[in-house]
Amino acid sequence: MTEYRRLRVALLGAGAVGSQVAALLRKHGDELADRAGAALDLVGIAVRDLDAPRDTDLPRELLTTDPEPLIVGADIVIELMGGIEPARTHILAAINSGADVVTANKALLATHGPEIFEAADQVGASVYYEAAAAGAIPIIRPLRDSLAGDRVQRIMGIVNGTTNYILDRMDREGSEFSDVLADAQALGYAEADPTADVEGYDAAQKAAILASLAFHTAVPLDGVHREGITSVDKQMMDAARHAGYVIKLLAVCERLTGADGESISVRVYPALIPREHPLASVHGANNAVFVQAEAAGDLMFYGAGAGGVQTASAVLGDIVSAARRHIAGGVGVGESTRANLPVVPIGRVTTRYQITLEVDDEPGVLATVAGILSEGRVSIATVEQTVIRESNGEPGVARIVIGTHKAVEQDLSETVDRLAASGVVERVVSVLRVEGN
Ligand code: NDP
Ligand code: HSE
Repeated sequence: MTEYRRLRVALLGAGAVGSQVAALLRKHGDELADRAGAALDLVGIAVRDLDAPRDTDLPRELLTTDPEPLIVGADIVIELMGGIEPARTHILAAINSGADVVTANKALLATHGPEIFEAADQVGASVYYEAAAAGAIPIIRPLRDSLAGDRVQRIMGIVNGTTNYILDRMDREGSEFSDVLADAQALGYAEADPTADVEGYDAAQKAAILASLAFHTAVPLDGVHREGITSVDKQMMDAARHAGYVIKLLAVCERLTGADGESISVRVYPALIPREHPLASVHGANNAVFVQAEAAGDLMFYGAGAGGVQTASAVLGDIVSAARRHIAGGVGVGESTRANLPVVPIGRVTTRYQITLEVDDEPGVLATVAGILSEGRVSIATVEQTVIRESNGEPGVARIVIGTHKAVEQDLSETVDRLAASGVVERVVSVLRVEGN
């Protein structure tokens, strides 16, 4: 048997992901040593409660409630506690004591990424975070390494499993949002507080991470426009299906080129995508990231975006990379943020829209609506009208679904406000962006 140099590995957290990482590290230790070129000694596991039930069998003597001594002297620190503090403090301590760090903590990287990468740069350490966006799917390394010689133009991702599970069941079974959310929680897809999922916060954190890598620009979380799926109802789902679309919560990261140079837009919202688009066939809690690059063309990354053991796969890949680097020596490769592109506000984004209105079913109403759209520089691509209440003494009501050509978000939202106030529109039922064609 080959005698390898031994590396001390400290694990912070033994929850859904950490307990699986510990079990796999112990089960496949010899194989991982051959791949890494170093023996990986799990020297301890920090938890909050020594007596909490665990998903896998972990030797009691490895568990501790005191992370500091574990971090000091470790070669690799794996942070799987989640949250901002104390995870941030522990990661900075690990870097400053000469360790490489592996983390899956999207919330921390999306808010304190620059501080952590800067600290790692200062001492020549590396921070690996493949599991921080889209769980088991390899997307961080492709963006950071494989596509480093290309120019990414656009990323469209389904990066939150909970919301995809909810929207998929609403689409396929005609279920109501609240019924399916309860199932997503019971299946363990949703965060402890599902607001992070359904209001788009989790997807926005992942979008910030993906956009930073893709565009070599530090994208702050408050530069990501975010809308959740709580307003999506059965009626919107049915209308989308009828029109040949499906509604997905999308993370869109886009390079824009204008008269004043290049900029980027990063946004998360429920959008209509054509049913034949590859992202439309992403079902259940799966994730997928569709990347368009100048030279490579269209690439699609698909798989499990969450789950303890699935996410552990990505973490273990990072541990092997960290071990190889530790053995090889030299300074770690820092994050490239040299492009430093400006992030534009949502108002300047251009996309297509579908506007659904309930209007008085009377002569001239369609002309009024068309006039308001025209004044607002919003060009109509399609119109479909359905009478939903016949006139009988009172005016009837019709539903109009308007598909637009590409319009500027600011123009569109001002136009929708004018429609709502016009006197002929009884209700703006929904305004959805159309992506993917
Ligand atoms: P869990 O909540 O299941 O586990 C967290 C673990 O950290 C627990 O073992 C907990 O201890 C421990 N812990 C928390 N706070 C402290 C503290 N102050 N001191 C010591 N130990 C602490 O989280 P997950 O495993 O689900 O997630 C871990 C990370 O992975 C998060 O950043 C998450 O966003 C990310 N991630 C998770 C995915 C998933 O599918 N679960 C997918 C992709 C990323 P105890 O058990 O004693 O309470
Ligand atoms: N709650 C997250 C999701 C877990 O549903 O995708 C993985 O980050």
